[in-house]
Amino acid sequence: MIKIVLIGIQGSGKSTQGNLLSEKLGIPYLSSGHILRNMAKEKTRWGRYVKETLNAGILISDGKMTPIMEEYLKKPEYENGWILDGYPRTLKQGKDFKEKIDLVIYIKVSDEKALGRLNLRSEHREDDTTEAIKKRIESFHTLTEPIIDYYRKKGILIEIDGERTIEEIHKNILERLNNG
Ligand code: AP5
Ligand code: MG
Repeated sequence: MIKIVLIGIQGSGKSTQGNLLSEKLGIPYLSSGHILRNMAKEKTRWGRYVKETLNAGILISDGKMTPIMEEYLKKPEYENGWILDGYPRTLKQGKDFKEKIDLVIYIKVSDEKALGRLNLRSEHREDDTTEAIKKRIESFHTLTEPIIDYYRKKGILIEIDGERTIEEIHKNILERLNNG
């Protein structure tokens, strides 16, 4: 049983690598962004708040986010481990999250590279606008970088060079997992 978290700037390949890893290891994959994009379709006050927040490229509040993720992880399919994509992504979320994480994989990609990839993304995402992308980059540096340091100090962080081909990165992640 292994509990893995993927961290990286928008466009770093968290979802791409998370899905590949999930298939390879046979461990379920869960993306906070995916959960939120589904919630954004709800015709409720909450749904509208999520839609507006996502489209603006701003993070959903920590107080709302942690209970959503903890609720999902109670489902039986996550009992024997999981791969989380996009959560925790602030220091507060990291400290509030009750689950014990075995490994955090930080996929390192420059702002420029990440930007270029989002322009090429085939899946249509309402938050892939210039303004929202700028905000998401900004929040990665101000809000997510501190949690990377937090996990590094805990000794559970591995850093992966994300500026290579999808296959090379996948191989590299598997090597790092096998070498402890
Ligand atoms: P989320 O869905 O997590 O979006 P994100 O962090 O902006 O990241 P992306 O999904 O855009 O990129 P990715 O790293 O998954 O890259 P991908 O594999 O797609 O979050 C969306 C929003 O939800 C947030 O802005 C926030 O509002 C909210 N949210 C989510 N979690 C939250 C939380 N914990 N707290 C508060 N709010 C939260 O790759 C990108 C593209 O590049 C693809 O087209 C892919 O095919 C391509 N690609 C991937 N790897 C490579 C490669 N090695 N070489 C070439 N192309 C590649
Ligand atoms: Mg993603």
